[in-house]
Amino acid sequence: MAKKNINFYSVKGTHDILPSEQYIWEKIRKEIRDVAETYSFSRIDTPIIENLDLFQRGVGEATDIVEKQMFTLTTKGGDKLVLRPEGTSAIARAYIQHGLSHVGQPLKVYYEGPFFRYENPQAGRYRQFHQAGFEIIGGENDPIYDVQVMLANLRLLESLKLKNISIHVNSIGCKTCRPIYKKKLLSYYKSKKKEICKDCNRRMNDNPLRLLDCKDEKCEVVKKSAPIMIDDLCATCRRHFKEVLEYAEELKLPYQINPFVVRGLDYYNRTVFEFFTEINNAEGEKSLSLALGGGGRYDYLFEIFGQRSTPAVGAALGLERIAEVIKSLKINIPVRQKNKVFLIVIGIEAKKRGMSLVEEFVKSGINISESMGKNSLGAQLKAADKEGAVLALILGQKEVFKESIIIRDMKTGVQETILLKKVVAEIKRRV
Ligand code: HAM
Repeated sequence: MAKKNINFYSVKGTHDILPSEQYIWEKIRKEIRDVAETYSFSRIDTPIIENLDLFQRGVGEATDIVEKQMFTLTTKGGDKLVLRPEGTSAIARAYIQHGLSHVGQPLKVYYEGPFFRYENPQAGRYRQFHQAGFEIIGGENDPIYDVQVMLANLRLLESLKLKNISIHVNSIGCKTCRPIYKKKLLSYYKSKKKEICKDCNRRMNDNPLRLLDCKDEKCEVVKKSAPIMIDDLCATCRRHFKEVLEYAEELKLPYQINPFVVRGLDYYNRTVFEFFTEINNAEGEKSLSLALGGGGRYDYLFEIFGQRSTPAVGAALGLERIAEVIKSLKINIPVRQKNKVFLIVIGIEAKKRGMSLVEEFVKSGINISESMGKNSLGAQLKAADKEGAVLALILGQKEVFKESIIIRDMKTGVQETILLKKVVAEIKRRV
């Protein structure tokens, strides 16, 4: 039977990060670590697979993520699992599982890694993507933590030289004030039923707050005159929101109140926010707003999980979107420094000696490049040139026999021979 050809494409909505792009990702990861350290967030890693019900309960049954976007699987033993679509529910699960409420509160953690959503792939939207997130869990329900999360995310974006960042902030209230507002919102939208899209007609039953972030043209018009949550906040939520804004003001954060930020996950209450940057479209003319990340308070998540009420706030940034902005703005990120020294070996004895010589260099803290699989001097010199080496060390049969080595200046071609046992010290002196 003829063998079916293999399809040599990565799975729809997934992408490779090639060696040539790694310097951008290394830089992003480095800045995540540095910002986390600066603001005292400790790293946490959770598995990529979790139980399905964690997200059904945490993120909410009526959300796009749970309804349409989860990669689910059933194990041979019948367990229903999911490739994690987001991090917050998993961090809360770990907090509960490991009794992290018993360590110093609040717990400040960060994470970075791949997440999965079954979405229609398009620019900035993938089925496997990466997020970095910062979460503050437990302790006091203090608005200062909301702003600390905003600050860490903002500093991360700034450290990567992203420009024109704005934080759109809103409050979606609490169990006391939100139901009253929802009624008002619904009665407004009921009067506009014929003017809104099919999805919004459905949202009226499932998830009324999401009416406010519909991007359909007709709905955008209706939305403009809709009642807004911050007019209906209860006294406690109003005070919380006021303090958030005061801290943001004090820190001169580039924030603006946006009553249409409601977020797509059910676990939020009170403060919600999203990070935007302005980019030009493909023709380089029109400025477009790109959502880089978002977050907010999720004080009810632990109750949803049947636990003691625990205040919490966090946010996550989409790393593909950040990497794309860095590329499109041609932000200068230093590429890894290439090795200055290249070892060339000719003949089997030289190869053997060359292998241990490389180790001697590594031990003394000098990385050197080589292409020992190649046999000819010409091919290896070419490789040294391509690597941009300043010095080449040439070890042939004769040199091994005499326990010497040739040092060649790659620019001038000038060569000199020295004793093999002195070469590490000599190179250390020169580079
Ligand atoms: P989210 O808004 O769903 O929030 O995702 C955060 C960011 O991840 C988005 O703003 C976007 O940059 C990126 N992102 C989401 N989906 C995709 C995708 N399909 N392709 C590429 N990038 C994507 C959360 O996930 C919450 N867990 C954030 C949070 C943390 N809230 C509290 N703590």
